[in-house]
Amino acid sequence: MNQSEYFIGLMSGTSMDSIDAVAIKFGKDKLECLGSHKHEIPKIIKKQLAKLCQSNDSSIALFGSTDIQMGVLFAEAAKSLMSALRLTPKNIIAIGCHGQTIRHSPPGGPNIPFSIQIGDPNTIATRTNCPIVADFRRADMALGGQGAPLTPAFHEIFFSHPSLVRIILNIGGIANITVLSPDRLCIGFDTGPGNVLLDGWCLRHQGNPFDENGNWGAGGTICKALLRQLKKHPYLKQSSPKSTGRESFNLKWLEQQLKDNRNHNALSAPQDVQATLCKFTADTITSCIESLKFPIDEIYVCGGGARNQALMKTLKQNVGSVKLYTTENLGIHPDNVEAAAFAWLAMRRINSFPGNLPSVTGASNSTVLGGVYLP
Ligand SMILES: Nc1ncnc2c1ncn2[C@@H]1O[C@H](COP(=O)(O)OP(=O)(O)OP(=O)(O)O)[C@@H](O)[C@H]1O
Ligand SMILES: [Mg+2]
Repeated sequence: MNQSEYFIGLMSGTSMDSIDAVAIKFGKDKLECLGSHKHEIPKIIKKQLAKLCQSNDSSIALFGSTDIQMGVLFAEAAKSLMSALRLTPKNIIAIGCHGQTIRHSPPGGPNIPFSIQIGDPNTIATRTNCPIVADFRRADMALGGQGAPLTPAFHEIFFSHPSLVRIILNIGGIANITVLSPDRLCIGFDTGPGNVLLDGWCLRHQGNPFDENGNWGAGGTICKALLRQLKKHPYLKQSSPKSTGRESFNLKWLEQQLKDNRNHNALSAPQDVQATLCKFTADTITSCIESLKFPIDEIYVCGGGARNQALMKTLKQNVGSVKLYTTENLGIHPDNVEAAAFAWLAMRRINSFPGNLPSVTGASNSTVLGGVYLP
């Protein structure tokens, strides 16, 4: 294998669970996934990232050093994948690295809009000896867009159907949908929490970073008053284009809701709160789908949330007769879709093709996304 024909995609999302790496060869409207790799993020770096995500000011020194440490980790993720697949830098056209989001403050919020992803691309280029494409979000934001979600353009190319209306539902830390309809412009937005609240609550009360298959929550009882309270979150009433992050959905916010609810109702046991969060997460997703007000034929789930059986069961109950699958049925494993999208966005950048969809992000124009960093 001597040709340069592969792109690598590196993704570490809001959940901060691990780095997903995938190697892809692109055809016109099909792709071949050569292999994937999950790269662990050491606990100490997870702690640093959690600190940087908090809305009070963090230290610039911590920001600078974690940026480099994440660059090293992204490089290691790519190199592990390459060595497992026997790929050398000669085989790689470019690596698309999303970076690790530490703040996302889009238009419509309290600040001058900005979004920060860390993981120094210079470090990744030097250590992998491959061209790196990074900083995907800010060109869209410079045009007034949300800078997110960016995966719908990829979903549109590879997952559209000529006559069926499909929804691609990614359940990462935050959940987002892409609506693919044969006779409408593609739309997509963040629906609200994905795994972020479920993970945070489970870590606090069970000591596990996530609720395996949703089993713990499934043994609890949904607290209707708390569910009503959670649904008052202002993000859920905003119209699209919209995007969100840990800034809006986090344990601090949840604690406040529990407190407010406690003033009027009985105390909820931790397991019942987990059951309520599962229902809340599913309901925020399906109410967005219902609000589209046109018939949907199929929903395909990707992201780590596809492994949460309790969440999937609740989603199934909510959507009734609409068919619910995972993207495995479309030929891409649910764990690989986001990373594959950033490999594709790297391909778009290398070829100077636009990567954003103004109908999704609200940007004034479509544009080429990302900067190129050569080794
Ligand atoms: N077996 C499982 N049972 C329940 N939940 C799981 C399981 N496996 C993974 N998850 C959930 O999936 C999450 C990771 O999903 P994923 O990597 O898609 O999210 P992410 O990194 O936030 O991605 P992105 O921001 O790109 O959407 C974990 O934090 C966990 O909540
Ligand atoms: Mg992840």
